[in-house]
Amino acid sequence: MSEAAPPIPAVQTSNLTRVYGSMVALNNLNLTINQGDLFGFIGSNGAGKTTTLRILATFLSPSGGSAAVLGHDVVKEADAVRHVIGYMPDFFGVYKDMEVTEYLDFFGACYKIPAAKREKTVDDVLELVGLTEKKGALIGALSRGMQQRIGLARVLIHDPKVLLLDEPASGLDPRARIEMMAILEELKRLGKTVIISSHILSELQSLCNRVAIIEKGKLIYAGPVQGVREQMFTGRVVWAKLREGDPEKAMGFLKLRNEISQIEPIDGELKITMIDHEADHSCVAEVLVNNGFKLLELREEEVGLEEVFLHVTKGETQ
Ligand SMILES: Nc1ncnc2c1ncn2[C@@H]1O[C@H](COP(=O)(O)OP(=O)(O)OP(=O)(O)O)[C@@H](O)[C@H]1O
Ligand SMILES: [Mg+2]
Repeated sequence: MSEAAPPIPAVQTSNLTRVYGSMVALNNLNLTINQGDLFGFIGSNGAGKTTTLRILATFLSPSGGSAAVLGHDVVKEADAVRHVIGYMPDFFGVYKDMEVTEYLDFFGACYKIPAAKREKTVDDVLELVGLTEKKGALIGALSRGMQQRIGLARVLIHDPKVLLLDEPASGLDPRARIEMMAILEELKRLGKTVIISSHILSELQSLCNRVAIIEKGKLIYAGPVQGVREQMFTGRVVWAKLREGDPEKAMGFLKLRNEISQIEPIDGELKITMIDHEADHSCVAEVLVNNGFKLLELREEEVGLEEVFLHVTKGETQ
C-alpha cells in the first residue's frame, strides 16, 4: 500500500518578498502553516505582518517569491484563494447606521449565498460570535468589542477554511480580548485554520499551537510557543546569595566552569548566566559548597515570554 500524500499546507510561502520603493518590507519569508493550526504571527510595529497578510489575502502583490493558500497561488489563482479565505484587516469600517442582520445579509449576497439560505447563515455566524441577541441592533450602537466581533462574523459568512485576522484583539479591553480569543478557539475546534497577528507574544501564548516571529521582514522563529523560550533565549540565568564568604573569591571559582558564561555581582547577589539553555546549573551550588561558601539562596530566573520576545526582536540572538 502506498503512503498517503501529506496534507496540503493551509499556507505556504517561498522566499516571499515585498518592497516599497527602496524599503524591503518582507525579505524572503519562508513559512508553512498547517491546516487546523491556530497560528500566531508576531512582530513589532513595522515588522511586516500586515504586508504578509495582505499578500495572502490577494490584496497586494509580492515583489518576489510566491505564496499559496490551500495549494492555490495567491497571484495566479487569486479567485480560488478569495473563496477559501476570510480576511479581517487591521482597520475596517463598519456601516454604523445599518442593522446587524442587514449588514451580514449584504455581505452574504456579495458572496452569492442564495437568499433562502442567507437568513440561516447569518443566524449561524451571529451565534458563533455570541451576538444573537444583537440581531436588530444598529452597528453604531454596539461597543468596540462587539463591532470587532461583527467584523469577524462578516468574514465567516462564506464559511472560509482559512482565516487571516490582522490584530483582531487590538484596542479591546481585557474582557473583550478574552471573548475574542474564546471565539478563535471555537473556530479552531470547527476545523478552521486561524492565523492571527499581534505584537504581543504573551497574548497568544496559551491560544496558539504554533507561532512565527518576524522582525524587519525576516522570519526569526517558527514553531511551538514553548520553543521560543528555549531556542531564542540563549543562556539561562541563576541568582546566588551567599551567607558567608567573599563574593569576589566565589566569582573566581565560578569563572573556571565551562558551563558559565558570565557572572556579575548585583545588590549583594551573584547573577550567573549559563552558556545556553541546556546547561546544568547544579554546578553553581557544587562549586560554591565545595569551596567552603555558605549558600543562602540559589534560584533560577523566570524569564517572561515578553522579555524573550524583546530580546529576540532587538536582534540580540542574530
Ligand atoms: N503602502 C506602503 N508604502 C510604503 N511603505 C509601506 C507601505 N505599507 C507598509 N510599508 C512599510 O513596510 C513595513 C512593514 O509594514 P507592515 O504594515 O507590514 O508592518 P506590521 O508588522 O503590520 O506593523 P504594525 O504592527 O504597525 O501593524 C513598514 O516599515 C512600513 O512602513
Ligand atoms: Mg500591521
